[in-house]
Amino acid sequence: MYVDAHLAPSRNTGHVKLYGPEAFAGMRRAGRLAAECLDMILPHVVAGVTTARLDDLCREFVLDHGALPACLYYRGYRHTICTSVNHVVCHGIPGPRTLKDGDILNIDVTVIVDGWHGDTSRMYSVGEVSRRAMRLMDVTYESLMRGIAAIKPGARLGDIGHAIQDYVEKQRCSVVRDFCGHGLGQVFHDAPNILHFGSPGEGLELRPGMMFTVEPMVNLGGAAVKVLNDGWTAVTKDKDLSAQYEHSLAVTETGVEIFTLSPTGLHKPHARDGAIADPR
Ligand code: MF3
Ligand code: CO
Ligand code: CO
Repeated sequence: MYVDAHLAPSRNTGHVKLYGPEAFAGMRRAGRLAAECLDMILPHVVAGVTTARLDDLCREFVLDHGALPACLYYRGYRHTICTSVNHVVCHGIPGPRTLKDGDILNIDVTVIVDGWHGDTSRMYSVGEVSRRAMRLMDVTYESLMRGIAAIKPGARLGDIGHAIQDYVEKQRCSVVRDFCGHGLGQVFHDAPNILHFGSPGEGLELRPGMMFTVEPMVNLGGAAVKVLNDGWTAVTKDKDLSAQYEHSLAVTETGVEIFTLSPTGLHKPHARDGAIADPR
């Protein structure tokens, strides 16, 4: 089940790779650049901007920093970021749609730096948003951080899922079951799958050197989702709001190291309140 990442083929073989110091160094650089890309885009997320424009800015930022956009041409996807607006759960495709006051959206970026993947997403709000939208974003962020707080050697994957699910459902929201977090490193989507629901003490045991994402999608209404005819865009069946936050991280000897924290703290919800709101 576990293999030394040095000795394993890099493709997804279903084995869970355990990484050493060089991988941590690579993942820190990739994670930081991904976080900085999401920082960069913040002042551009305003009413009237198209999601295609946000994608262009992110692609240019990633390329200008000597990195590659992992999603570009990944399984036929043709963009740098996913832009998931309002009832879009994930994998929203950037395009000519303009953002309007009151929209909330997730921007998800994955960069490749020297072969290592940094994968992270956050919520953004356009102008004033409803209190229920604010609450959903808060609940989703808190669920991510509670899931991450469960990570340490000897804990199990079910402990992460349970921490997320238990909190979300107590807030009368629901956890999406159709998408999960994933191992990552030199492979974008690797073993193991990280479910955002589960039972304490169940599932694979966490070991130092494991690297993966946690990326809960949380709905205000029901958990059911469907994928549109474009083959990518996942939406809530009840058309109610959905939110998501994502970090890339590793299990350490003592707990967890998050690779995708913003150097300026902008990964937290509402970080934009009081921040520069003028895009020019
Ligand atoms: N970044 C997404 C994730 O968290 C994956 C997007 S795949 C794409 O795993 F092809 F849509 F870009
Ligand atoms: Co991911
Ligand atoms: Co992602």
